[in-house]
Amino acid sequence: MAKRTYCTYKGIPLPTMGYSKESLSYMENEFQLLDDDVVTVSYPKSGTNWMLEILGLIWHDGDPSWVQSVFMANRSPWIETVDGLNVALNYPPPRFLTTHLPFQFFPKSFLHSKCKIIYVMRNPKDVLVSHYHFAKCCETLEEPGTVEEFLEKFLNGKVMYGSWFNHMKGWVKLKERPNFFLITYEELQQDLRGSVKKICHFLGKELASHQLDEVTKYASFQIMKDNKMSNYSLLPSMDHSKGKFMRKGICGDWKNHLTVAQSEHFDHVYQEKMQGVGVTFPWD
Ligand code: A3P
Repeated sequence: MAKRTYCTYKGIPLPTMGYSKESLSYMENEFQLLDDDVVTVSYPKSGTNWMLEILGLIWHDGDPSWVQSVFMANRSPWIETVDGLNVALNYPPPRFLTTHLPFQFFPKSFLHSKCKIIYVMRNPKDVLVSHYHFAKCCETLEEPGTVEEFLEKFLNGKVMYGSWFNHMKGWVKLKERPNFFLITYEELQQDLRGSVKKICHFLGKELASHQLDEVTKYASFQIMKDNKMSNYSLLPSMDHSKGKFMRKGICGDWKNHLTVAQSEHFDHVYQEKMQGVGVTFPWD
C-alpha cells in the first residue's frame, strides 16, 4: 500500500495507511457510543495526546502505572482508524475514546447518547507548525513541502482531516450542552493543575490535593516525553532522525516559523472565516 498518500472520505483527506472506507462507514453508522464513554475530540496537533495522558492519570487517581505500561492507542483508541475501531469494540466500559473527525462524521449513535465529549483546541498557527514538523517525520503523512506551501494547504483544508475552520465550527456548536467540555492547549499550559481540576469536575471525579499534584507531575512535558507508551518513540512509522512527536510543547512557536507576511495572510483568512462563530479564544 502506498505510503505518504491521502485518500478522501466524503471530501476529507485521510492517510491511506490505517484507514478504510468500510471501517469509517461502520464507525459512522453502526458504532454505538455508550453513556459512560469519555471521548477526546480534537483537530490533529492540538494537544490530543496530552489530554489522553491527563485523563488516564485522573482515572487512576494520579498513579502513573497504567499510562506508563499501556500504549496510548490501546488506552484511548482513535475510533476512525481500522485498528482503533477494533480496540474500541473490545474495550470493557467505561471507555476512553479519541477522534480527530469533523462533527458530521461522528457516530450517529451520539444523538441518543450521554457520552462525555472533551474538545481540545489550540492556536491554529501553532497547530500548523506542529503539523508541519510531524508530517516530516511521520511516514504515513504527505510530505509537507515548504512552510509556504504547507500554509496554503492548511488554510485551504488540503491537509489530513480537512479544514481547521470547519472542524472548529462543527464542534463548538455543541458548547452549551452539559456533556460537552471545551478546553484549549493554552489553558493547559497556563494552569495545568487548575485545568485538571476542571476536567475532574466535568467527569464527576473528585481527586485529593496530593492526587492532583501527581496528575500534574506525570502529565508534564518533561515526564511525558520520556514515557515510551506516550511519546511515540516505538511507532515504526516515525523516522526519529527527522523529528520527535514530543517536539517543543510550547505556545507561540509559530513566531519562529512564519514570516510577518505569512502571519498577516493567516490573520486575514482567519478573520474572514471566523465571522459569525461567536466564540473568543485565548489566541484572538
Ligand atoms: P509541538 O509539536 O508544538 O511540540 P497532538 O497530541 O494533538 O498530536 O499534539 C501534539 C502536540 O502536543 C506537540 O506540540 C507536542 O509536543 C504537544 N504535547 C504533547 N504532550 C505535551 C505535554 N505534556 N505538554 C505540552 N505539550 C505537549
